[in-house]
Amino acid sequence: SFEVALARSCLTIKVAAGQSILEAMREAGVDLPSSCEQGACGTCLATVIEGEPDHQDVYLSPSERASGTKIMTCVSRSKSARLVLDA
Ligand code: FES
Repeated sequence: SFEVALARSCLTIKVAAGQSILEAMREAGVDLPSSCEQGACGTCLATVIEGEPDHQDVYLSPSERASGTKIMTCVSRSKSARLVLDA
């Protein structure tokens, strides 16, 4: 598991194994739009402020991936213990 801090919502949530960041955010009352929930459409995009995303999507371009500033919250995870999102 890892921790996600939601900067605008002033919340820190835990994302368990087998749970998506999107699901954990919704459980905490932070709703983000989504559509495919398979990492393909781009709807659930969030901006990464801090931490290292573990990209599992097929939406971001190689340069977007490498920049580490965007994450698809329906499928991607975190390589760092903590991720800070602009959400
Ligand atoms: Fe489609 Fe996340 S909902 S990429």
